[in-house]
Amino acid sequence: MILVTGATGNVGGELVAQLAEAGRAVRALVRRTDAGNALPRGAEAVAGDLNDPKSLRPALDGVRGVFLLPGYADMPGTLAELRAAGVEHVVLLSSIAAPDGDLDNAISRFMILSEEAVSGSGVPWTILRPSGFMSNTFRWNGQLAAGDVVRDAFGGVAVANVDPYDIAAVAARVLLDKDHFGRAHALSGPEALLPADRVRRLGRVLGRPLRFVGLSDEEARREMEGTMPQEYIDAFFRYYADGTLDDSVVRPGVAEVLGRQPRTFDQWAEAHAGDFPVAVSA
Ligand SMILES: NC(=O)c1ccc[n+]([C@@H]2O[C@H](COP(=O)([O-])OP(=O)(O)OC[C@H]3O[C@@H](n4cnc5c(N)ncnc54)[C@H](OP(=O)(O)O)[C@@H]3O)[C@@H](O)[C@H]2O)c1
Repeated sequence: MILVTGATGNVGGELVAQLAEAGRAVRALVRRTDAGNALPRGAEAVAGDLNDPKSLRPALDGVRGVFLLPGYADMPGTLAELRAAGVEHVVLLSSIAAPDGDLDNAISRFMILSEEAVSGSGVPWTILRPSGFMSNTFRWNGQLAAGDVVRDAFGGVAVANVDPYDIAAVAARVLLDKDHFGRAHALSGPEALLPADRVRRLGRVLGRPLRFVGLSDEEARREMEGTMPQEYIDAFFRYYADGTLDDSVVRPGVAEVLGRQPRTFDQWAEAHAGDFPVAVSA
């Protein structure tokens, strides 16, 4: 049995679907019991809260492999529960930012501490370090419902965004495979795109004349306030305004593990066209 955390999210949702499709025994950790209704056939839902390691006990019963999200309240406590339950392999979703070792950056810090909790746990592990996700594009949905202009921060920063489908495919491939124990895989998409490129390509897929307008750093900070903690806003500015993270690098992990090229942004947009708001009438 494999337990997938974040099972209603972008990556975990893809992973539950891929494991169920492959006929593997899969259990989804959910916070709301009605979330189980949306799971694919063959997947079962068990409730638990990643901020409360003891609450994971029912979900861990009989589990051999765990796909784990980073950054929750007591990651060492969670790993102790996995170990006590006899879990044979944990695959941690981390970030390409973790190797920078910057404990003063709040996002890097929670990734680094999660990686340390996993690698020091005594449970065999594999770490996935993805670039920014293609699904971050959904953050534009409010603007896309209101018109054809997308305004966003860091207009000059190219990112080799990765499709959550590919992260899930790598996780499904490595789970319980001893060849991947003790290894970290850096995962990106096949090319670096500016926000304006993504807006243009999304417009082509949706049949809308979408246009990108960059925000100044001051405007961007104002827009981000209230949507996330201040320390995360500072973390993004450190990465993308100060340039401490180069997320434009195309990483080899997807091709190395899966033996195929990562999916393109256009493929992601086509697969998710129905998840965007319909065109506004003129
Ligand atoms: N976005 C990026 O570019 C990026 C890049 C690198 C790494 N990451 C990491 O990847 C993670 C997963 O991203 P995603 O886009 O797949 O996630 P997502 O779509 O934002 O969904 C988050 C998932 O976590 C679950 N969850 C939240 N709090 C929980 C809790 N206390 N206990 C149990 N489950 C909880 C949510 O369940 P509910 O349905 O109950 O809310 C949901 O299934 C992120 O959290 C981040 O740490 C993201």
